[in-house]
Amino acid sequence: MQVLSELPRRSVAFIGSECHPFVKTGGLGDVMYALPRELVRLNCDVRVILPRYACIPQKYQDKMVYRGEFYMDVGNTGRQYYVGIMEYICDGVVYDFIDNQEFFSSGNPYVNLVDDIPKYCFFSKAALAALNFMNWIPDVIHCHDWQAALVPIYLRTLFKNSPVGHAKSILTIHNLRFQGIYNIPTIQYWTGLPNDVFNMGALKQGWEDANMFKGGLAYADRITTVSGTYAQEIQTSEYGEGLEGHLRYHSYKLRGIVNGIDYDMWNPETDPALAVNYGLSTVLEHKMENKLALQKELGLEENQDKFVIGLISRLTNQKGLDLVSAVIPQVMDGNTQVVILGTGDKEFEDTFRYYEGAYKGQFAACIQYDESRAHRIYAGADALLVPSRFEPCGLTQLNAMHYGTLPIVRETGGLKDTVEPYNTFSGDGNGFTFDRYESGLLLDAINRAKTLYFTNRYHWDEVVQRDMAKDVSWEHSAKQYKDLYLELTQW
Ligand code: ADP
Ligand code: GLC
Repeated sequence: MQVLSELPRRSVAFIGSECHPFVKTGGLGDVMYALPRELVRLNCDVRVILPRYACIPQKYQDKMVYRGEFYMDVGNTGRQYYVGIMEYICDGVVYDFIDNQEFFSSGNPYVNLVDDIPKYCFFSKAALAALNFMNWIPDVIHCHDWQAALVPIYLRTLFKNSPVGHAKSILTIHNLRFQGIYNIPTIQYWTGLPNDVFNMGALKQGWEDANMFKGGLAYADRITTVSGTYAQEIQTSEYGEGLEGHLRYHSYKLRGIVNGIDYDMWNPETDPALAVNYGLSTVLEHKMENKLALQKELGLEENQDKFVIGLISRLTNQKGLDLVSAVIPQVMDGNTQVVILGTGDKEFEDTFRYYEGAYKGQFAACIQYDESRAHRIYAGADALLVPSRFEPCGLTQLNAMHYGTLPIVRETGGLKDTVEPYNTFSGDGNGFTFDRYESGLLLDAINRAKTLYFTNRYHWDEVVQRDMAKDVSWEHSAKQYKDLYLELTQW
């Protein structure tokens, strides 16, 4: 890896709850993997601090090296808890896993709030204590989502007079829907934070509750979120999830930096998961072969003339799946196939299974989490649906474009910032978009995509090539994070 060593050097600790390839449930895992790697190139010294979940695959557990252990008090529990540090170094990024079997033994990182609240109260404190223990004091501590939102508060309270107390903090919002809200006595018990933190400007929310994300946002030196549009949206009642006023108050320190994708992990020229590799100059011939291979793999009618629409997503209310299920009967016109890959709410899983039975050979519902199948869908589909109700950034539309698959997206959050609507007259644009959250508008966008595909393949192919050439890498965005670190640490 080439490091741009002439740039000023800064040290950064990433603290978050998931990171590819160890544990990933969504885009946070991709960002925790890709951004540190890019920051290393920009002459940053990066450590990523994660829980050592039991579900991390054995092959990575085997590579971890014991780095040390200590005992730490937790909140008002009156007990000392074990904190082990297991380390793994890869491509210049140091991963430190916080070990504690009591908190991290379940098969999934997130279980339910009753367990998750104590788990992440413990994790956030243990992460800072581990930095002190290792005597590695970063210039900046970069925290991610509610699971790490207590870190900026701990830094300015319990850790104020310890070495790590000198670090600056950044809290990145990947998704404001989940905030870590629980009654005040429970949060007090597990954090041991002083009473004055439980005020309406920080942790307290309403009469009874404490909100970990809200408190972290108040205490962080800077707040970022994963696209410019989402940074604006979360200051409105429609998208603010109840924190819009709080975010408007703190807007002077809030900024949006759009995510990218890792070009090594997502590269159709070298991707080992694909039937046939391709690049910009070979996409038109080889994408068809990937489509046929995908149809075969999923038991769909093998016919390259069908328009294949993919959807790769957590099946939750965020992702616009009620719109998708409403339009399927009209989308299935005999020339179209649909491939869904995802797990989540039973209601959506069952709906898509039903459609698979109803449209045999034309509709595939893969109710599973499967990384390599995801890669083959990005490569084999013609278009990818992302009709989200809200979308802080969204990575699937970026992966799709990079694989020459045209996105069909709702104009919200990062989808709006990354997909320029196709313009029939000028031929410009990257995909098909709609604005209001209505199934009729989604259907209309899908039909515009089909019309271009079936009646004007020449122009469709131009967009395929434009999307593959579009820069959706981390390069530009990582520079913006580095600039932010420099802004916070001017010496
Ligand atoms: P979110 O973080 O809200 O889930 P993103 O679009 O930011 O949405 O990121 C989703 C990531 O998870 C992408 O890398 C996508 O390829 C991956 N993904 C989602 N569902 C699945 C699945 N069922 N199998 C494999 N990968 C998936
Ligand atoms: C969240 C968001 C998604 C974003 C991802 C990574 O899970 O839902 O839009 O891309 O985080 O930042």
